[in-house]
Amino acid sequence: MFAVWYEKNGSAAEVMKTGELPDPEPAAGEVRVRLYASAVNPSDVKARAGSRPIRWPKLIPNSDGAGVIDRVGAGVTTHKAGDRVWTYNGQWDRAFGTSAQYIALPAALAVPLPAGLNWEQGACLGIPVMTAHRCLFADGPLNGKTVMVTGGAGVVAHYAIQLAKWAGAAKVITTASSDAKAAHARAAGADLVINYRTEDVAGRVRAECGGVDRIVDVDFGRNLPVSKAIINPFGAITCYASTSVPAPQFPYNDLLRLNVSVRPVFVYTMSDEAKRQAHADIARWLNDAKPVFTIAERYRLTEVIAAHRAVERGEKIGQVILNID
Ligand SMILES: NC(=O)c1ccc[n+]([C@@H]2O[C@H](COP(=O)([O-])OP(=O)(O)OC[C@H]3O[C@@H](n4cnc5c(N)ncnc54)[C@H](OP(=O)(O)O)[C@@H]3O)[C@@H](O)[C@H]2O)c1
Repeated sequence: MFAVWYEKNGSAAEVMKTGELPDPEPAAGEVRVRLYASAVNPSDVKARAGSRPIRWPKLIPNSDGAGVIDRVGAGVTTHKAGDRVWTYNGQWDRAFGTSAQYIALPAALAVPLPAGLNWEQGACLGIPVMTAHRCLFADGPLNGKTVMVTGGAGVVAHYAIQLAKWAGAAKVITTASSDAKAAHARAAGADLVINYRTEDVAGRVRAECGGVDRIVDVDFGRNLPVSKAIINPFGAITCYASTSVPAPQFPYNDLLRLNVSVRPVFVYTMSDEAKRQAHADIARWLNDAKPVFTIAERYRLTEVIAAHRAVERGEKIGQVILNID
């Protein structure tokens, strides 16, 4: 099969290679998927750069993808050849991810892809939508709740806004750093967008609705002063990154008095139960709603270095996709 791989951590141009590798065979309990799209998420780029030191002689990057099952391993009764699927966790704790024509992976990581969705859209459903789902629903239903999704133009946030609206949130507020990003967040369904670089976020939230019941946060440490100022009693602050301030000082007494939950979420190691709930809700959302998928840039496997650089630059709005011939 044609594939991308690397054998050591480093810059994209320095370590990434493309060429032929042996086709994988599905082991017992696995399926083999002929992939047509692979998504490049920040985590894939950071892993290649060195956040996850390489533990195998060769590593095929990227966790998320979409394609068609062409073989099933012994004992697999839930899937069959010909099923269209989206896949996730393809390169978590495993050597061979989705930037290749084939992946063999546990059947539970291949989820039915509805007929109306294309491969690129299917490849968006892994890390971004699974993370958004867990952040929103880990603390119970959203019906009637007020939700703050920070960084509303981000890929995870894009789907968090949409899922929150679908789940009946009374109001979805978000933050953005530019007019273009604000417009993108509004197109996803945000009711109010606040520029967190130029405006008083806490003041505007208080004026709009007093406070919020849930916060889904892309930068926990940096946003904590605002979060503690706007979270309602019994609310929940869920965070999936804390890049600017990785070891923040924790305002224990402020949050204690409000009986607030603080929940870091890591998509790769979600419980099996949380994964099953996410699969079921995502299937219903895809069926009920008209999700907006935003593809920022498209590349072929041979252009993987440019694709990783596009994610590294951090200026894109939407997902970076590798299309696979
Ligand atoms: N824990 C997990 O399981 C998990 C899952 C997925 C992603 N992540 C991590 O989450 C981060 C975002 O991923 P992504 O795919 O959504 O990336 P992305 O598409 O690049 O979006 C990040 C967004 O966050 C905004 N942002 C950054 N700092 C902010 C702040 N302090 N307040 C408000 N907005 C802020 C950025 O916009 P501006 O800078 O213009 O404001 C950008 O729109 C990455 O670090 C990724 O590795 C973690």
